[in-house]
Amino acid sequence: MRGFLAKQCKPLYNELSLNRKGELPMETMGSLRRTNYCGEVSMSNVGQEMTVCGSIARARDKGGIIFADLRDTTGILQLVFDEDTPKDVFAKAESLKSEYVVICRGLLRERAAKTTKIATGDVELYVSELRILSEAQTPPFEIRDDINVNDDLRLRYRYLDLRRPSMHEPIVLRSKIMQIIRSYFCDNHFTEIETPTLIKSTPEGARDYLVPSRVQPGHFYALPQSPQLYKQILMLSGFDRYFQIARCYRDEDLRADRQPEFTQVDEEMSFVNEDDIMTINEGLIKRLWKEMLGVDVQTPFVRMPWDEAMGRFGSDKPDTRFGLEIVDVTDIFDGTEFKPFAAVLEQGGSIRAINAKGLAGKLTRKHIDKLGEVAKTYGAKGLAFSRLTEEGTSSSFEKFLTEEEKAALYKAMELETGDVLLIVSDADWVKACTALGQVRLEIGRKYGLIDPDKFNFLWVVDFPLFEWDDETQRYYAVHHPFTSPKLEDVQYLDSDPGRVRANAYDFVCNGTEIGGGSIRIHDSKLQEKMFELLGFTPEEAQKRFGFLMNAFKYGAPPHGGLAFGFDRLCSLFGGSESIRDYIAFPKNNAGRDVMLDAPGYIDQTQLDELYLELRKPEE
Ligand code: AMO
Repeated sequence: MRGFLAKQCKPLYNELSLNRKGELPMETMGSLRRTNYCGEVSMSNVGQEMTVCGSIARARDKGGIIFADLRDTTGILQLVFDEDTPKDVFAKAESLKSEYVVICRGLLRERAAKTTKIATGDVELYVSELRILSEAQTPPFEIRDDINVNDDLRLRYRYLDLRRPSMHEPIVLRSKIMQIIRSYFCDNHFTEIETPTLIKSTPEGARDYLVPSRVQPGHFYALPQSPQLYKQILMLSGFDRYFQIARCYRDEDLRADRQPEFTQVDEEMSFVNEDDIMTINEGLIKRLWKEMLGVDVQTPFVRMPWDEAMGRFGSDKPDTRFGLEIVDVTDIFDGTEFKPFAAVLEQGGSIRAINAKGLAGKLTRKHIDKLGEVAKTYGAKGLAFSRLTEEGTSSSFEKFLTEEEKAALYKAMELETGDVLLIVSDADWVKACTALGQVRLEIGRKYGLIDPDKFNFLWVVDFPLFEWDDETQRYYAVHHPFTSPKLEDVQYLDSDPGRVRANAYDFVCNGTEIGGGSIRIHDSKLQEKMFELLGFTPEEAQKRFGFLMNAFKYGAPPHGGLAFGFDRLCSLFGGSESIRDYIAFPKNNAGRDVMLDAPGYIDQTQLDELYLELRKPEE
């Protein structure tokens, strides 16, 4: 057998170890071993002999003197070869090309022409021994930061993309954040526990990714959307405080801050209330910002009720880094004859406005029309406006108002020359606020009202427990079906479910929902009631969640928890809006792994084993 293997492997070995010209066998490291990392040497190492290794980022042959930038995971160090370099080493240096992998030994010396472009710009390595360990083809794009390359090409060659410092650093940063989180939870008596990833399909908001079982034909596992049920069961198992850095899977529409496969910092605690959970997590944020950025974050964070967040900012994840707040002007139009407003008021609706202060010069009619389109995308019927310039006022609606209405509106909105007033009215106050909230964000972004260096943390609390869906004519849980109602609102569960608030909280930073959680129901009767309100028959509820309700019957501690979106948390430190940059191997916008080319077809034998038949996708 050994002889057989040797015969099979020998030609392959020879092929791999020849250089591209087919002349010399490739070199090995021999006795050379790394003594230093490129990015970590400095003036304090000058005069030292050292061995470094990595890839050639760039080689410049200046005739008689060769410079090569060597890149490893820590940074770049300049290598130098000249006429005093041993002849064989110089000859090898002449053949160096980008992305060749080398190990070399030399003397660190002070650089004559220093540069601040790289961290090691004060020094260079004068090389006496060089071994080329691997040659490289010309990559499909340059391995440097300021390139403009199509996303799919970068993802197909992700291993090359990750060599670029701006892509490499976020992954290292992610690892550091992970370590701080682990140590924080361990310091606070949490136990790290892994939970299964082949689980039962339970509705939690998004669609499940499903995995067919071979041994039980027709049965499917689901990949977890979160470890929610397991962590509750762990509280029933007496673990008291749990955390996990957990992989989650959701089949939903992708955006810059959404991946089908993402990571949560997931946690659960027993014998706690909302404040306890928010406080322990404020401690985590404090530690992260201190250790990562040296910034002292002030706690406690603002706790803003959901209806205030919606009313003032038109969002349940308000970006509070800038003003332009929404004002409720409904009362001003009580009894109005202006038909669109009157119709909205008749239906019990709401009229909301923002004053884009001092922006009349920039906010042209054309742009106001574009803002109108934004408002419509979010369900508004239109965007009424008044633009007050030195030349006069242009308005889509003022001429239909009485003098009193106009005066009251100007007063409430503190309108002056140079301002632009924008109004949305709708029968549903949430819709009016949401549409105007998006208009607010668009103005904030376009006119530079947002300070990118600010971190505005807050908790949004007192969410409604349910939201009504017109299409399916039923209530859905705003968080998930295991969230407990506020004790004082339990009385409305039957009579007015829309009025019941949840013991739930979201952690928001700069307009992004970074985390969310709640105090759970720990009483089987109340949990049954919740399922009933969500439209499950007792049989369905038993079939899907019987294990949880049964577990509650054996004594359940009050418990609650939270999950941070870990990828989103990382992106706050790195300043990029896309969480993809913090994931080593992310999916593209269509949910594909273009490097592996997944998902892909499977062959008929695999389908047969799983008792699956494929239908042709509809055109
Ligand atoms: P929730 O569904 O709010 O709560 O998720 C928690 C956090 O996970 C992040 N997140 C995502 N990040 C990237 N891509 C996605 N597709 C994605 N979906 C969610 C968000 C979000 O705030 N089990 C509950 C938590 C609990 O109640 O304890 C849960 O999963 O940052």
